[in-house]
Amino acid sequence: PLRDSHRPWKCLLALCKLPVMLRSTGTAHHFTFLLNSTDYRILRMDEDHDRMYVGSKDYILSLDLHDINKEPLIIHWPVAPQRKTECVLSGKDTNGECGNFIRLIEPWNRTHLYVCGTGAYNPICTYVDRGRRSQEYTFRLDPGKVDSGKGKCPYDPKLNSVSALINGELYAGVYIDFMGTDASIFRTLGKQTAMRTDQYNSKWLNDPTFIKAQLIPDSAEKNDDKLYFFFREKASEMGQSPMTQSRIGRICLNDDGGHCCLVNKWSTFLKARLICSVPGADGIETHFDELPDLSESLLKQPFAVFICVPSRSVFKGSAVCVYSMADIRQVFNGPYAHKEGPNYQWVAYTGKIPYPRPGTCPGGTFTPNMKSTKDYPDEVINFMRNHPTMYNAVYPMHKRPLVVRNNVDYEFTTITVDQVAAADGSYEVLFLGTDRGTVQKVIVLPRDDMQTEELVLEEVEVFKVPTPITTMKISSKRQQLYVGSVLGVTHLALHRCDVYGEACADCCLARDPYCAWDGKSSPRKCDVKYGNPIRQCRGYNSNVNKNTLEMVQYGVEGSSTFLECQARSPHVSLKWHLQKENSDRRKEVSQERSSSADTY
Ligand SMILES: *[C@@H]1O[C@H](CO)[C@@H](O)[C@H](O)[C@H]1NC(C)=O
Ligand SMILES: *[C@@H]1O[C@H](CO)[C@@H](O)[C@H](O)[C@H]1NC(C)=O
Repeated sequence: PLRDSHRPWKCLLALCKLPVMLRSTGTAHHFTFLLNSTDYRILRMDEDHDRMYVGSKDYILSLDLHDINKEPLIIHWPVAPQRKTECVLSGKDTNGECGNFIRLIEPWNRTHLYVCGTGAYNPICTYVDRGRRSQEYTFRLDPGKVDSGKGKCPYDPKLNSVSALINGELYAGVYIDFMGTDASIFRTLGKQTAMRTDQYNSKWLNDPTFIKAQLIPDSAEKNDDKLYFFFREKASEMGQSPMTQSRIGRICLNDDGGHCCLVNKWSTFLKARLICSVPGADGIETHFDELPDLSESLLKQPFAVFICVPSRSVFKGSAVCVYSMADIRQVFNGPYAHKEGPNYQWVAYTGKIPYPRPGTCPGGTFTPNMKSTKDYPDEVINFMRNHPTMYNAVYPMHKRPLVVRNNVDYEFTTITVDQVAAADGSYEVLFLGTDRGTVQKVIVLPRDDMQTEELVLEEVEVFKVPTPITTMKISSKRQQLYVGSVLGVTHLALHRCDVYGEACADCCLARDPYCAWDGKSSPRKCDVKYGNPIRQCRGYNSNVNKNTLEMVQYGVEGSSTFLECQARSPHVSLKWHLQKENSDRRKEVSQERSSSADTY
């Protein structure tokens, strides 16, 4: 209370460049069915059946996408007591390692899923009957059909694996041995020959952590189809620091291996480095290299992948980088990395490149007459074995990250992207999971000066106990975000426009494309890029400038008056100005802002 004033007060709602975080709890729907389980890592959406399949320790769940607590279907799939005893006798931890941690759930056919678990250090797979239609409420193990999980699922639940089931063939990036030293990209199950990467060849894979496998077609020709693997691995001498590098690797789906050599091994495997860095003031680049997750863009043109990357080497922080497929293909079409011998540097290979160009798929656009990689000349196969790495690295679009968080006390662990049509165009909304149990909803807007403006629309606490988010999936159909962690599964709406307030201006200032598009409280559409309520909402004073709103309130000298100014949008900052009677000058009143609602 500033008691010396009896003159009008003005409350200005100003658009703020640095958004204020809005934290909400109690908006997420937790899976509350009591299970003695942990590590809810695998989320597999089935929008046709309106179900989500979840894999955790010893359990496979089928949950209703509308409400995950409504009649969950539960399969308990622990290991036999004898297996558990053997596991413990081999020196492993009873609960931490000797459980059956589900690590793979793939749709097998119209009625069955293929599911694998670590099986107490003895990976196992089986079929789950989910019925033809969801109304049947079928969800059960197919008795008597247990396969070995070797090459599909790791022994050690601490090691991440990735998988893709394509045309009845299972492709997996996985450590295939008990010791966890033999990392491989493996193909099993189908009619084609089983295939793998060259064993214990650190040029191919060097202590990798697999992040994702993603089929990305190269052209209209099916024979060119490639499966891309995203992983991080230990750096070879090439480039020295940093210790860990983010990688994109790929194989042709129709690879049959070599004839002379690389028999039953990929003869089209290539990889390249993904760079995500920002130049510092001192000219030293800050690299973000601990690739934890990625999401493909929903905009097919230009096709891009979003990747979020924390850096553990220098300080805590993360970045989101976007890579276009065109840039990625250009690197794979560029020079191969070459090393003459142990004491030489890595250079771009300048010698003769054999035909067909190493990494090309058989029967594709450039090799119509070669039906199989077994028809490739020996020199192509030999070249492949020694040159699996591209010399050039892939840089993000515009050569810089889309989002950067430096020196914050959290990291991004997961990313997923949704596309929203607002009044002024189409927006990609990023959902970024953190290691402290929250999800940030972020949009990045182009500005007129070629720079970009990042807006954090909200940050939601999805798990009451701070815990790293391990998995996120979006259902555009249901407009829900599903989130998994060690503690459980939960879901929340992609938008909650009512938290921004009732008024049109509140909605506009929030600049949330979901709400600007269809806000139930907003009578008209607002643009997201400028979020200008002056233009779009009548009835407000606006004599300061186009980005501010003002409200006049009066206090009387010598008395205390309750003055209140409320702004629900996280992008609003409040300023109080004091203007005395008979004066045109106004003075800003300094204050400590406690929240988005200030009272005097
Ligand atoms: C939960 O499982 C662990 C082993 O997986 C067991 O030791 C514990 O007794 C179980 N708790 C309950 C309540 O069943
Ligand atoms: C799906 O696969 C399972 C397991 O191989 C099999 O038992 C079942 O008959 C198949 N269902 C259909 C519809 O093909």
